[in-house]
Amino acid sequence: MPFERPIIRVEPPGPRAREVIRRHHELIMTSTHDPENLPLVIERAEGVWFVDVDGNVYLDFTSSVAVNNLGYPTHPEVAKAVSEQLHVLAHAAGTDFYNPYQVQLAEVLTSIAPGGFPKKVFFSNSGTEANEAAIKIARYSTNRKYFIAFIGAFHGRTMGSLSLTASKPVHKRRYYMTMPGVVHVPYPNPYRNPWHVDGYEYPDELINRVLEYIEYWVFEHQVPAEEVAAVFFEPIQGEGGYVVPPRRFFQELKKLTDRYGILLVDDEVQMALGRTGKMFAVEHFNVAPDIVTLAKALGGGVVPLGATVFRKDLDLEPGAHSNTFGGHALAAVAALKNIEVTERLLPRVAELEKLFCERLSEVKERYQRVGDVRGLGLAWGVEFVKDRKTKEHDAKTRNRVVYEALRRGLVLLGCGKSAIRLIPPLIITEEQAKIGLDIFEEAVKAAST
Ligand SMILES: Cc1ncc(COP(=O)(O)O)c(C=O)c1O
Repeated sequence: MPFERPIIRVEPPGPRAREVIRRHHELIMTSTHDPENLPLVIERAEGVWFVDVDGNVYLDFTSSVAVNNLGYPTHPEVAKAVSEQLHVLAHAAGTDFYNPYQVQLAEVLTSIAPGGFPKKVFFSNSGTEANEAAIKIARYSTNRKYFIAFIGAFHGRTMGSLSLTASKPVHKRRYYMTMPGVVHVPYPNPYRNPWHVDGYEYPDELINRVLEYIEYWVFEHQVPAEEVAAVFFEPIQGEGGYVVPPRRFFQELKKLTDRYGILLVDDEVQMALGRTGKMFAVEHFNVAPDIVTLAKALGGGVVPLGATVFRKDLDLEPGAHSNTFGGHALAAVAALKNIEVTERLLPRVAELEKLFCERLSEVKERYQRVGDVRGLGLAWGVEFVKDRKTKEHDAKTRNRVVYEALRRGLVLLGCGKSAIRLIPPLIITEEQAKIGLDIFEEAVKAAST
């Protein structure tokens, strides 16, 4: 190590990988691993490279689902800060006692989160928990019951956040009833929406259709607007397919929600920090949400850490919400260093955006099965269709592309019904990015024949 290119010594999964996978399926709950998941058994990792148990070396275009933005195994600056902190203080009941580390992290998060208003933070361990806290803050502070969320959204899998999630029916099968009071509305997906509006050509028309839907079909038929606590949204739908809405959408949405005193909750769990070239993806849309949730990359790829950053005047009363690991000193130190390093990487992400846009647009031009390419920064989605006119999903080709890429040493993850996300660690160099994009094209070619 470090590596210059992927090295495939044995067709994955190799013999050692097969054995781990066999034992895994005997011992670990079936629900976590889809049969379509890649047979990739990672033994170690460095920079942007995974090494599997059979010695194969792969380039990572997943950041381990948007967590390892700073690469592997741990960014040296984060590793140094964490190992020093280990000898000082790791856990000391941050929700019962006080520590200065969580206060420092809250100072930074409240200053970098969008919106010039005073804010506070609730710390947790995951994205779903960050959203559960947002649900409670919204209901408590407004004393309203209902929520609006978008079709295609993923906000988590605990019963509250699951009720906001609407990306795959399997997430909800047999779990009814989840939290009542959620109404789902179409997301302003420029490529695929119920009105067949081409949202790239006619963004304003798409925006108007979605807002009309909320005002007419929801507020005039289903729930009184003055009883809606909040609208939850992802600035770019992640699990739903890396869908980028029209730039003006959230500003227009905010005008509508402001009219009825409805809060805006921005789920940045998959997009923050830095993935889109800005610390928060919502910064591309010039709007300040009332509540922002984070997790995944926040802990620097070392510690599980979630945060709910909210307008100070929405605060809860003592005892109304808490947890055990919130305000964990070691996690706070990891996140502080992570934010510092990520800020330095933002210009590089903006630069690499051009490369991804150009190369993926070329792939779209060359291969008919590629229906749509969309993205910002290092957050790209490529959607596969059987026919460009009908836009019928082509999950089979998508799955083949992911597998053909693995065979060539590139790790990709699917999303949505027939899309692939390309989300490498933000530390990736231009040369490495080019290697990955070339392999991606080879895989699309192999899957298209
Ligand atoms: C946008 C978004 N919100 C929430 C979650 C849930 O996060 P976690 O798996 O940490 O609970 C995810 C996970 O993929 C996500 O992408």
